[in-house]
Amino acid sequence: MTTPVLQIRDLKVTFSTPLGPLVAVRGIDLDVHPGEMTAVVGESGSGKSVSFLAAMGLLPRTATVEGSVMLDGHQLVGASPKLLRSIRGRLLSMIFQDPLSALNPVHRIGAQISEMLRAHSSMSERAARIRAVELLEIVGIPQPGDRALQYPHEFSGGMRQRVVIAMAIANSPKVLIADEPTTALDVTVQAQILEVIQRVQAQFGTAVVLITHDLGVVARVCERVNVMYAGRVVERADIGTIFDEPTHPYTRGLLASLPQAGVERLVPIAGFPPNMLNPPTGCAFRTRCEHAAEACGQRLPELEPLGNSMTACIRAKELVGR
Ligand SMILES: Nc1ncnc2c1ncn2[C@@H]1O[C@H](COP(=O)(O)OP(=O)(O)OP(=O)(O)O)[C@@H](O)[C@H]1O
Ligand SMILES: [Mg+2]
Repeated sequence: MTTPVLQIRDLKVTFSTPLGPLVAVRGIDLDVHPGEMTAVVGESGSGKSVSFLAAMGLLPRTATVEGSVMLDGHQLVGASPKLLRSIRGRLLSMIFQDPLSALNPVHRIGAQISEMLRAHSSMSERAARIRAVELLEIVGIPQPGDRALQYPHEFSGGMRQRVVIAMAIANSPKVLIADEPTTALDVTVQAQILEVIQRVQAQFGTAVVLITHDLGVVARVCERVNVMYAGRVVERADIGTIFDEPTHPYTRGLLASLPQAGVERLVPIAGFPPNMLNPPTGCAFRTRCEHAAEACGQRLPELEPLGNSMTACIRAKELVGR
C-alpha cells in the first residue's frame, strides 16, 4: 500500500451559531492514496463539504477545526493563511457544484487559467497563455484557442464546469476534491464531466475525492467509498463490497433508494437526518434504523472491520446476511 497523499485524522468541525455549538463533523479519519478515486457519499447535511472545506482552510471564522489533515507532509489544520494560499490550487484543488461561482464574469477564460498558472509558478505570460489553451483541450473544449478568448457567459454549463476543472488541474495538484461537480448539469453532460475527471486522473495521476449523494455516480468511477452520516464515516469499503455486501444499515438504505433496472418502487430511507445542534446519543442513525436496539444509544460506534468493510454499527455482524 502506498503512503496516503491526504491523511485526515479525527477531524472535528464545530460552528458557533446563535443556537449554540453545531458539531458538523464529529471525528472522521480518511486516507486518500496517490492517483486513486475515492468517494464520499451521504445525505444532505452529513458533513461532506464541511470536511473538505476545513481541509482547504476555507471555512468561515465561526468554525473551529480540530484534528489533523496532512497533505503531502504539510499539516493543514491550524496552518497559516500564507501556507494555505500556497497549497490551494497547487497541491490541493477543489471544484464545486456551481461552476459560475468559480469563474470571474469579466475576465476571459484563457486569462483566468493563465492567472491560476502564474499564481503558483514563474511561468511567463506567453507560456501561461499557451498552456491555458492546452488545458482547455485536455478537458475537451473544442477550438480551445478561440474559446480561450471568450467570457464565461459565452459557455454552456457543462463547458464552464470543464473550464473549472482545467483551472483546478492547471498546477497538477496531488489531490482534486470534486464537490458534487455534476449535480447542476443534465444527465448526459454529467457523464461527460465524470469522464473528464477520470481522464485527468489517469493522465496526471491526480488523486480525486468525489463528493456526491448519488451512489449511482460513484459506481461508475470510484474505487473506494466512504459513507458519511451525521458528521461521521459510518462505512468504508471498495465499491464492489458497498454494492454486493453492504454492512451498515444506512448504506443498505442508500442502496435501496437507488433507481435500479427492473425495480419499480424506490424505497427512500424513512425519517430525516438528525438536527446537528442536538444529535441523538450513541449512533446517530438509530432514530431511523429499523434494527436499532437499546445499546445503540449508549455510545458512538467506531469503525470496525467486518467482512471486506469497515463499519460503525454494533449490530452489523448479527444483521449481515439477513
Ligand atoms: N457556515 C456554517 N455555519 C453553521 N453551520 C454550517 C455552516 N456550513 C455548514 N453548516 C452545517 O454543517 C452541517 C454539514 O454541512 P455540509 O455542507 O458539510 O453538508 P453536506 O454533506 O455537504 O450536504 P449537501 O449534500 O447538502 O451538500 C450541516 O448541518 C450544515 O447546516
Ligand atoms: Mg455539500
